[in-house]
Amino acid sequence: MSTSTAPPEPAQMDLTRCKRSQPYEIYCAKDFATPIKLSVGEYDGELPKPVRETVIGYFAEHLESGCLRYPSDHSTVTRELKEAICRYNSMLSEDQVILTGGSTEALRLIFDTYLEDTDKVLFPIPSYSNALNLIRLRTRRVDTVLCLGFDMLCQALQKSPYKLVYLSQPNNPTGYVFSMDEMELLADRHPGTVFVLDGCYLEFDRHYSVYAMNRPNVIVVRTFSKAFGLAGLRIGYLYSRADVVARLALLRDPHLPSELAKVAALTALASLRQYEAIWEELSRTRVWLIDALQKIGLEVNPNARGMFVMAGLHEGTNKELCDFLREQHQILVKPLKGEVFGLEEARYVRIGMAGKETLQRLVKAIGAFYSQERRGASQLFPADCRRANPDICASR
Ligand SMILES: Cc1ncc(COP(=O)(O)O)c(C=O)c1O
Repeated sequence: MSTSTAPPEPAQMDLTRCKRSQPYEIYCAKDFATPIKLSVGEYDGELPKPVRETVIGYFAEHLESGCLRYPSDHSTVTRELKEAICRYNSMLSEDQVILTGGSTEALRLIFDTYLEDTDKVLFPIPSYSNALNLIRLRTRRVDTVLCLGFDMLCQALQKSPYKLVYLSQPNNPTGYVFSMDEMELLADRHPGTVFVLDGCYLEFDRHYSVYAMNRPNVIVVRTFSKAFGLAGLRIGYLYSRADVVARLALLRDPHLPSELAKVAALTALASLRQYEAIWEELSRTRVWLIDALQKIGLEVNPNARGMFVMAGLHEGTNKELCDFLREQHQILVKPLKGEVFGLEEARYVRIGMAGKETLQRLVKAIGAFYSQERRGASQLFPADCRRANPDICASR
């Protein structure tokens, strides 16, 4: 009698270490028409006219000449965009830059190039959870350490030698940003450690050109998704010292980014003045939002930068607030919870920046949920995290 046993299936990698730590999907927009989407850091306003016109006219103009074929590393627009990026980050030369399909691809490229499964990584939390997932695909040896500010980071770095440290600048979600001096100090003090500076939100501090450090252990990742509002086109870049970049280039996807994305990014950099007005306005609105949230009793880092404001409730859970906002006001805000954020208590939310009118609606809605009596003293952010950053103040 023959017994039929199922043939063995190929074993899959254990992905549980990369799983999202919370049911995040309900706070993501299902389509473009979702009412108010403050759960992701994404510019919601109108893009400068030249950028819109370039994108709209692109296919009409280039379809016949093969714009749907593979993009080319040697196209005119590739060269022009790299030149424009170097002008924008004034101290860079073209051999220091790699164009990527968004900063996510840049991060993946760095982690693939540097990390083996025995390497130890320091991932300060709270921070950008997708980066943690990408790191964990390469190594299990990741220390997630609560780091709110420079002093906590220095202490963590003293405890163990690390192959790589990921730093989101300004940090998503706390809004904390290191000064140039602090970054240089870290890089010089730990020459065997690769510091990955994810500068997704640097533009919002008018702080951007200073992060062009010519050190072999610093790699900066940038994107057109956030400050330039081109997230859907998937374009970003990384930069470092030329020899480091040459090695990173070996693993890049040669078919990213698309020619359309490059043309749009080039037009965006040519429209800097208009973008700067948008960034100024968003920064003013952020200051207003922080104040408004504090007035209704939420704990907020008064010095938060970038595209998010992280706020703590003194009563009620973040899920209660987020559900209330979603169900009663059609506003999506992200609850922060779980290991990746290093916060046991379910009381923190992350609010993405948007236009002032939108945020006024949010504040009003939170006010309805969160009454004046719930106000309390700030506990989370230590003094060095709350202080004004001298670099930033100088540039204002
Ligand atoms: C800190 C940080 N890095 C990277 C990304 C991904 O950006 P991109 O669209 O460039 O891949 C995000 C997106 O939210 C982010 O917050």
